[in-house]
Amino acid sequence: MRKKIAAGNWKMNTTLDEGLKLASEVVHMAKDESLSDTTIIISVPFTHLGSVKKIIGSATNVFIAAQNCHQEVSGAYTGEISATMLQSLGVDCVVLGHSERREYYKETYAELGAKTQIVLAHQMTPIFCCGEKLDTREENAHFNLVKEQLSSSLFQLDAADFVKIIIAYEPVWAIGTGVTASDEQAQEMHHFIRETITEKYGESIAHQIPILYGGSVKPTNAQTLFSCPDVDGGLIGGASLDAQGFIDIARSF
Ligand code: 13P
Repeated sequence: MRKKIAAGNWKMNTTLDEGLKLASEVVHMAKDESLSDTTIIISVPFTHLGSVKKIIGSATNVFIAAQNCHQEVSGAYTGEISATMLQSLGVDCVVLGHSERREYYKETYAELGAKTQIVLAHQMTPIFCCGEKLDTREENAHFNLVKEQLSSSLFQLDAADFVKIIIAYEPVWAIGTGVTASDEQAQEMHHFIRETITEKYGESIAHQIPILYGGSVKPTNAQTLFSCPDVDGGLIGGASLDAQGFIDIARSF
């Protein structure tokens, strides 16, 4: 049985006070018995990590993620944050390769491969994002692109490392647009991703990897998306900034 995962990506939102309030609400609501076997992840700004980690305390179903990290261990990289720093704060997961980082910061396949390796080497879980823009889908090149995103950055990993990864399929045209992929579109791509992993690492590993869907997930559409056989949960942006809405999504399995 794969984990059921609801991951909130706060992106560059909330002041520290707002973030601590939101995290406290999420942690409190996550104590509900109905969520005991759901993995809840909150991916917060770097500035909030230490304080949010304390708020999570001993909660067993809430985990903390960073939204990026640098690919080098340390050095003269002014303004950057290393995996060592994140690990020292008790960070559990790191979102890598979000489409906003690929687009605005020109993150390359090679950099994302190196970031994935360094996150794994620091005993944290990469949440590796992939997904196509609208024009790529319209050209029917979306399967090839997602395969390339995965194989170029991840397929150099050995199986023992690869199996620790969480994948998030986030079609760029669905992010922050209110346009969600249909259940059929999500299932079709998630199935394709699992097949692609099967070809490289075999069926047993492919069946262990959680694949999350991201892109305008809301309390009103989460249930049908999460009921798709290859959709193991969501990576939620805007709707994760409201604790009740986010928890409603986490209850949608
Ligand atoms: P939205 O849920 O706001 O569409 O964002 C999705 C996302 O980018 C999560 O990483």
